[in-house]
Amino acid sequence: MIDHATIERILDAAEISDVVSDFVTLRKRGVNMLGVCPFHNEKTPSFTVSPAKGIFKCFGCGKGGNSVNFIMEHENLTYPEALKWLAKKYNIEIVEEEETDEQKQLKDERESLMIVSGFAQKYFSRFLWEENEGRTIGLSYFRERSFRDDVMKKFEVGYAPDGKTPFTDAALKQGYKIDYLEKTGLTIKRDDWLRDRFAARVIFPIHNLAGRVIAFGGRILKDDKKIAKYLNSPESEIYHKSKVLYGIYQAKREMTRSDKAYLVEGYTDVLSMHQAGIENVVASSGTALTVEQIRLVRRFTPNITIIYDGDAAGIKASLRGIDLVLEEGMNVKVLLLPDGEDPDSFAKKMGASAFLSYIKEHETDFIRFKTQLLMKDTENDPIARARLISEVIRSVAIIPDSITRSVYIKDCSNLLGVDEEVLYNEVRRQKQKQEGDFQRRDTREQQVRPVPKMEVPPVLTPSGFQTEELEFLRFLLKHANALIYFREKGSDEKIAVSVKDFMVAEIEEDELVSQNPLFQKIFYDVADNIENDAFDSWKHFIYHPNGEISKLATDLLSDKYIESKRWTKAGAFTEREEDILDILIPRIVNEYKLNKVRGMLSGIEKAIEEASAAKDFDRVIEEQSMYMNLKRVEKELTMQLGNRIIS
Ligand code: CTP
Ligand code: MN
Repeated sequence: MIDHATIERILDAAEISDVVSDFVTLRKRGVNMLGVCPFHNEKTPSFTVSPAKGIFKCFGCGKGGNSVNFIMEHENLTYPEALKWLAKKYNIEIVEEEETDEQKQLKDERESLMIVSGFAQKYFSRFLWEENEGRTIGLSYFRERSFRDDVMKKFEVGYAPDGKTPFTDAALKQGYKIDYLEKTGLTIKRDDWLRDRFAARVIFPIHNLAGRVIAFGGRILKDDKKIAKYLNSPESEIYHKSKVLYGIYQAKREMTRSDKAYLVEGYTDVLSMHQAGIENVVASSGTALTVEQIRLVRRFTPNITIIYDGDAAGIKASLRGIDLVLEEGMNVKVLLLPDGEDPDSFAKKMGASAFLSYIKEHETDFIRFKTQLLMKDTENDPIARARLISEVIRSVAIIPDSITRSVYIKDCSNLLGVDEEVLYNEVRRQKQKQEGDFQRRDTREQQVRPVPKMEVPPVLTPSGFQTEELEFLRFLLKHANALIYFREKGSDEKIAVSVKDFMVAEIEEDELVSQNPLFQKIFYDVADNIENDAFDSWKHFIYHPNGEISKLATDLLSDKYIESKRWTKAGAFTEREEDILDILIPRIVNEYKLNKVRGMLSGIEKAIEEASAAKDFDRVIEEQSMYMNLKRVEKELTMQLGNRIIS
């Protein structure tokens, strides 16, 4: 039991933004902080931390609470476990007597496994640095491979002594239970026969995000083809291989700072890149990438470069794995090292700065890489070429963001010498196919893996809003400072005006501001700040103190209400609304006006009926003349909209 005073000290120390920052990259937004929610899959950050209130809240999935709740949710812990977790982070001693063997048994299993792993790491490190066997065999191995002491210490590497059970003996003597030694895989147990798993290997501890040791990789020292070069811990309560990336703890700060991550294959690649000064690097440890690993990286940055060994046999096989990365909305680049090199050997050969510039010069975006790789096989073979196009387009179609997608389509059109329009059609066809695939997979593999959602947003309308009003607000917020261009009648000169200037002026002049109070609040906020260049409508509304407004703004900016592919009708062959604002903005404004005018017309119709029933003929005449005027406006607007659709 943790006593009350200790709990209070923990709560005082555990400042919410500090706790959350261990796992989520937060950016300052006014008095709050904002990041990508770790509890659900999102592109646009809606995870908010309020240091003043000491709470977090995700406007996407609704999760919220204080720092203890955050740790409970994130680390999957109970309340007392989360308190202990925080106590450890803030070096607060939990008042419990010297641990007896019994108390060690009582500790919850996960915690016990981590404690045993922590003990093992310290044991192996101490052995490497202080014991004769460790120094002459382990340390000299690392030194021979030119690893610096500071890098070895940062990754807490070690050496496991040779023999049947020297490590297991030491652990048992300290009171660690054989059950936990076995469950972490540190000890192999058969009937009454024990063996140290990692004997006579150099040790690479694997850390979780919070820096605790959860597993190990151990490398043999000789190159003996008969024995596996690396031995790894088995899966356990605390180690799920598919959810872990080697080096994430040491890389997370630099991944955030540089907004970029490198993915390599091996332990030594990670160490060598750190040694060369590149710290934003993680390793998949020789296995195929998983969705969970990608999401782990994406919490820190969407930009990832995958570095392949020069002799990587499995590049083509891994292309499908990369499709997963694209699916998660990440920007993927690929770097192929020269023949026979891996990042470890290459960084050492080139030196830090030459290695870095090699990366900068040679990394190519994934689609281009894939196209070029596959193109080599298809020269002079039209059928293979057709298959190639379809294979490349499959990757393009997976990309969730339509803007990125159209950039790739342009690129591929050049590379493959195929018309953009043909590629768009193929993308559309593939997307339909993939959506079908996902649905089928959905029923078959439900527990196996979360099914990525393709871009088919349901068209939702929050109550009290007309679709046209929402579209108007969405464009007003999203493109406020973009410029659109008009040609003045009788002149060849184009004039530029900002979207917000145009939209606000059009509606104010015609006195057509909606009666909806939320609409008015947003509209007049923008109008009041029309001269203020520093006014950032995104920030302003997403962080609006009025929760209804911030919710609406978040939904609008996250494109929740968009009907997809609406704009292909605009006549331009593109999916990017940014590219055709000149056409779209006047059209959005007109649709909004038309909706308002029609609303007014039906209001007037009622008024006329009422007035004639009351035999108030003056009023009838007055209303009728207004009606005629509005009818003219309606006709004008319809024509303008119609023309645009036809042209
Ligand atoms: N790996 C493994 N088991 C093996 C071989 C490899 O788990 N038997 C994993 C390790 O995580 C290793 C990664 O795959 O780091 C890459 O393998 P490889 O390129 O063969 O090893 P290197 O990292 O280059 O190791 P070294 O430089 O020490 O030879
Ligand atoms: Mn290597």
